[in-house]
Amino acid sequence: MTDPTLSVATAIRNRRTVRRYRPDPLPPHTLTTLLELALEAPTSWNLQDRSIVAVTSDEGRKGLARATGGQPQPHEAPVTLVFVAEPQAWRDDQSDVHDRARAAGAWSDEFIAGFAAASTAFQRDLDRRGLLREYAVKDAMIAASFVMLAATELGLATSPMNGWDEEKVKQVIGIGDRPDLAIALLVSIGYPAEVRHHPGRRPLERNVFHERHGQPGGRGLRPAR
Ligand SMILES: Cc1cc2nc3c(=O)[nH]c(=O)nc-3n(C[C@H](O)[C@H](O)[C@H](O)COP(=O)(O)O)c2cc1C
Repeated sequence: MTDPTLSVATAIRNRRTVRRYRPDPLPPHTLTTLLELALEAPTSWNLQDRSIVAVTSDEGRKGLARATGGQPQPHEAPVTLVFVAEPQAWRDDQSDVHDRARAAGAWSDEFIAGFAAASTAFQRDLDRRGLLREYAVKDAMIAASFVMLAATELGLATSPMNGWDEEKVKQVIGIGDRPDLAIALLVSIGYPAEVRHHPGRRPLERNVFHERHGQPGGRGLRPAR
């Protein structure tokens, strides 16, 4: 059930990876809301170089369960989102993105001209260094993170999944013939059939540093004036 008082901070602290689900479907419009929120996630150069396939059919969910080596969540949960990275998206016409930003008053013509040229140069350099896939996967992962938090806020459980055979996942969502696309993450969403306890995190001192990696001082940091 939706808890309108659940803050982002509480959603972050409450979220757990849930592996067993009840078969109950999501309430009407909830999936659309989650997908809209996913697309609010930032992307490098606003390329929006990720897409999402919502798999809800019995056949599709069974296919994803097989692709994950038999993990229960894709089949048990009423929906699994497949986050697809689109490393070649920067080669597409971006004029619709520019038109939207112009109409919103966010970007001027002058900004668009400079931004588009700099973006293309940046992507060419990534291409040269073999990093296009990595950058598109980063963008897809941020969208997946947004969905997990938004779903938690709506009282739903989620499960991120990395353990799958990429070719099998691509077959299930109909992109078996698209070497230009990559799978970033699967996220199952639904109502939990198990309680998961917080497995804990290492203390801040172990993973947060000040100025230089390995240098303590992460706790109690104050921004410089
Ligand atoms: C990128 C990523 C991939 C993951 N892949 C799987 C997976 O394939 N199967 C699974 O059961 N859990 C998977 N997990 C969940 C982690 O095991 C889980 O996040 C971790 O144990 C911490 O638990 P928590 O999410 O409840 O805090 C994945 C998590 C992340 C971030």
